[in-house]
Amino acid sequence: MRPTPRTSSPRRYLMCPPAHFTVTYSINPWMDPTKPVDLPLALAQWEDLRDRYRSLGHTVELLEPDPALPDMVFAANGATVVEGRVLGARFAHPERAREADAHVAWFRGNGWADDAVRVPEHVNEGEGDFAVTASWILAGRGFRSSPLSHDEAQEFFGRPVIGLELVDPRYYHLDTALCVLDDARDEIMYHPDAFSPGSRAVLARLFPDALIATAEDAAALGLNAVSDGRHVLLPQAAVGLFEPLRRRGFEPVGMDLGELLKGGGSVKCCTQELRP
Ligand code: ARG
Repeated sequence: MRPTPRTSSPRRYLMCPPAHFTVTYSINPWMDPTKPVDLPLALAQWEDLRDRYRSLGHTVELLEPDPALPDMVFAANGATVVEGRVLGARFAHPERAREADAHVAWFRGNGWADDAVRVPEHVNEGEGDFAVTASWILAGRGFRSSPLSHDEAQEFFGRPVIGLELVDPRYYHLDTALCVLDDARDEIMYHPDAFSPGSRAVLARLFPDALIATAEDAAALGLNAVSDGRHVLLPQAAVGLFEPLRRRGFEPVGMDLGELLKGGGSVKCCTQELRP
């Protein structure tokens, strides 16, 4: 069988350089404050990702890093943008709380109208837990985002929100366990064991043709990936995903974000998509 031809569409991303990245607290099992972080290496790895997006024809906007917010590099958590409407974040942990304000300020300062930006009532960690497909918004809960944020997102965006229960602390955000491969169709890849039995059944029903990731590839944070419809940028250690992606017609692009992995994030965590 010949793979479906894939086309990329130009994307606009918001990123934040890891100028002050460090691991001084632990709010997920990947974070070990006794392990040193190589900051110049973290920066170089992040710059590779930014430059790769640009060389693929995408636009990268930058958020000013705040020295008091070491996790700010994980820009995906700061908001969710669909059809130009922005649902801000509200973080579960006080260590990251102020990041939400920095994101809202960025949108307000960069041309978004006041009524297009919502400061949320309920805890949600942006695209960490919201994933946008053609038909739905998939929404994680269990560790960070509140189930109440799912209703809030549905009302705000006017799109059906499918709540999914995460059960493995290593996969504390939806974007560590599931990735949208083609947002013009409803095509995803995910790791079933990260979800409750009921949510697994929902995923199987909605996405019968999904690419299923193994435990090894999920543990390399291989699902923390970004697709432009054709290129899939993903952690290079998730070697088992490359061939299945190619067979579907995608071009996997392996990235090394090993230093940021010490904070519990990789490609997707560093990338917030600004959907027009
Ligand atoms: N240290 C950060 C946290 O635990 C990592 C966030 C990763 N971001 C993501 N989109 N999964 O909050």
